[in-house]
Amino acid sequence: MAADWSKYFPYTNQTSCFIFYSSLSKMADDKENKKIGLKTTLDMVVEGCRLPVKMSILPNEEEEWPLAEILSRKEEKGKLEFYVHYIDFNKRLDEWVLPDRLRVEELQFPRKDQKTPQKQTSSAANSRPTTPDRELQLSKKLSLPEQTSSPAAKLGGQGQTPQSQTKSNAGRKRKAIFLDEDSQDAPATPQPSAPPQQPRQTGSMSSSHDENIITRIKNIETIELGKYRIKPWYFSPYPPELTTISIVFICEFCLKYVKSRKCLERHRTKCTLRHPPGNEIYRKSTISFFEIDGRKNKMYSQNLCLLAKLFLDHKTLYYDTDPFLFYVMTEYDIKGFHIVGFFSKEKESTEDYNVACILTLPPYQRKGYGKLLIEFSYELSKFEGKTGSPEKPLSDLGLLSYRSYWSQTILEILVNLKPENGERPQVTINEICELTSIRKEDVISTLQHLNLINYYKGQYIITLSQESIDTHNRAMAKRKIRIDAKCLHWTPKDWAKRGKW
Ligand code: ACO
Ligand code: ZN
Repeated sequence: MAADWSKYFPYTNQTSCFIFYSSLSKMADDKENKKIGLKTTLDMVVEGCRLPVKMSILPNEEEEWPLAEILSRKEEKGKLEFYVHYIDFNKRLDEWVLPDRLRVEELQFPRKDQKTPQKQTSSAANSRPTTPDRELQLSKKLSLPEQTSSPAAKLGGQGQTPQSQTKSNAGRKRKAIFLDEDSQDAPATPQPSAPPQQPRQTGSMSSSHDENIITRIKNIETIELGKYRIKPWYFSPYPPELTTISIVFICEFCLKYVKSRKCLERHRTKCTLRHPPGNEIYRKSTISFFEIDGRKNKMYSQNLCLLAKLFLDHKTLYYDTDPFLFYVMTEYDIKGFHIVGFFSKEKESTEDYNVACILTLPPYQRKGYGKLLIEFSYELSKFEGKTGSPEKPLSDLGLLSYRSYWSQTILEILVNLKPENGERPQVTINEICELTSIRKEDVISTLQHLNLINYYKGQYIITLSQESIDTHNRAMAKRKIRIDAKCLHWTPKDWAKRGKW
């Protein structure tokens, strides 16, 4: 500050120059104070605090400052970052932000009664369990499935789901699996606790507060799977050494994960798989389905679960895989059968679930593959002669997809009903269940959701307007890929009779 002011203010006398100097120095002090003030405020921004945070949105979009909760903070090489969860949005939008995106002047300190991080029981582990519309609208601006779902260097990102911790399956307690990169052939020993700021890398879904906070933070930056690079949506218990690198490379056929392209290339020289293991039980055109037994192909199933967990929230599916079958859908080209998505299914489900978890990988989302997976799951149920339902709760995207599938399937039946003897066409709920294998509750809730049920002269009748018929026909015309039952070569097994999985 010992500048020669006369150079800049040649006409000022000594006194005025002094005064000016003082005020400048005061300004500098203020700035310093402000800095200190900001630092103090940032120091106060700790886990559990809430404040408006600028969402990362596309250029030219209006700024959004939704209320967010601080889940974690880290300082690396003097760079401070905060991991935030937007209160009204799905966890998949959680992200690390720099301080300039925090509106610290509106900081709210954690209240005793405000217990946010645990969302184990909420539907889909969302802040807003039911209506994903606003978020999905926003997702369009943000890490959209459709935006993220493009080839090569494009990045992908979002989705999720839970599963009841108490499984039906013969009261069998599921063991957590701990995978170790070097020995992917056998469950490894649990990883030791990581330093406090790092997510813990175990497969346990224990409900302790700390662990939930840790498993709520995305730990894998990017994965490369075949020709796609994908941004994960959620935590998945990959080994700790993979959480510090920018890209995890995954063999698209056996799903083994490695830490570098070089390792992947080396692996590819040894890996002979060009399709998922197990039996190909369906093929039509380029679409195939492979049935994989979680007990017989443990390594593949565990790797699939780890991969799936990146896009499924609060799912316990990466636990013991023995009780499950996995139905992996692939798309064929000359390089092989590329994984598009899958669903898992309990070998025995006392609640008649026909799907445990379902996933379309982000690069393939919003193209009708989800509905194809769902359609396939009901086709299996038809072969079994049973009705079935997906395991609850559903994720927001899961609910949208199922609602859409149920609506179209039920409407298709109603629209094609023929009048008999000049009478109004008739169908019972049970008949709809039999024809579709959709469980009764889901049929009723769909009819209610579509607002088709009316009470008229002492009985329930379904009223279909011409407009809803037209809308339905248009939607069906868009549904290009369908399951063709003739292409399914499969005999259901009665796992209960077999005595073992
Ligand atoms: N925004 C708005 N609508 C969506 C979105 C989205 N992001 N994603 C799917 N939909 C709607 C589609 O519009 C479509 O309805 P429509 O035909 O009436 O327009 C319907 O959902 C199905 O679309 P698909 O393209 O067939 O489904 P997709 O391939 O995208 O897969 C799935 C849907 C499996 C739910 C996918 O989003 C996903 O894997 N999400 C992450 C994991 C997940 O949440 N799984 C479900 C968990 S529930 C359970 O496991 C039992
Ligand atoms: Zn491989």
